[in-house]
Amino acid sequence: MHVVRRPGWAIPEREVTPEHLYLDRRRALGWLGAGAAAAALPASARANELLAGRYPAPRNDTYEVQRALTPEETVTSYNNFYEFGSSKRIARAARALELQPWEILIDGMVAEEKRLDVTELIGRMALEERVYRLRCVEAWAMTIPWTGFPMAELVKFAAPSSGARYVRMETFENPRVAPGQRQFWYPWPYVEGLTMAEATNELAFLVTGLYGRPVPNQNGAPLRLAVPWKYGFKSIKSIKRFTFTDERPVSFWEDLAADEYGFWANVNPEVPHPRWSQATERVVGSDERVPTRLFNGYGDDVAHLYDGMEDERLFM
Ligand code: MTE
Repeated sequence: MHVVRRPGWAIPEREVTPEHLYLDRRRALGWLGAGAAAAALPASARANELLAGRYPAPRNDTYEVQRALTPEETVTSYNNFYEFGSSKRIARAARALELQPWEILIDGMVAEEKRLDVTELIGRMALEERVYRLRCVEAWAMTIPWTGFPMAELVKFAAPSSGARYVRMETFENPRVAPGQRQFWYPWPYVEGLTMAEATNELAFLVTGLYGRPVPNQNGAPLRLAVPWKYGFKSIKSIKRFTFTDERPVSFWEDLAADEYGFWANVNPEVPHPRWSQATERVVGSDERVPTRLFNGYGDDVAHLYDGMEDERLFM
């Protein structure tokens, strides 16, 4: 197995959150059990509570990044989720997203179409925690302890036919709860896609939680993607549908502005966005700017996916 070890972008030891502080926090979160005042919570939070027994999940240290974790309060209050508005402060608006029931549809080039509730899907999977870097195309970055399961497991469960070349993913569509979806000039629903090789790469991760508990609405509850070698817009939130296809999906941002946001969107400091440089990134929650790394530092694991594809616009 190809693992990420001592990556080139490791930051100085002094900036790493001391492990005992982090572990104490995890333990404390563990005590906040599934029953905790569930009745007083909004419906979406109650759905999260149903899955709370699965948290915190064991940490997979293969993906240790040796960078300071972005504080939970920052991760959950500085978001991009255009369904709820174009500002970063959409957490309150995202509370309106109803998580129960949340049916997942798996269709397209599969032996058998599947419809199941997300709690059942998550219930089938072994959950683990991985600390990943997130690099937004807007040149800011975070480091987040996600909980979830490898996307390869979803692919296995879906049993696609050998002709399937891509996975197309789609977010919910409900303008009643998501005011951004009333803005007709956006091509809703939010769509993203990966090649089968990308989707089954061990780094591709379907996220169900962060910081040791179910992922909050604003970060993409109940199920979102994390593909850390690509710009953050590829990491689609609040997924409802996985479609296996032989046609390359056109993603939300590509549909809006193909000259600025492409299908591949692999991080590369040397390929500027048409309107700004990608050479450095702002570490959210600090004044620090750090150099951006090719494939966001994950090149050892993913660069081979793009061998022989020099004609493609791999880095935007
Ligand atoms: N998914 C949906 N459905 N809608 C969005 O607007 N924004 C993307 C991505 N996934 C987005 C989305 C962008 S631009 C980024 S940088 C990340 O989500 C941000 O994830 P975060 O808010 O959890 O940091």
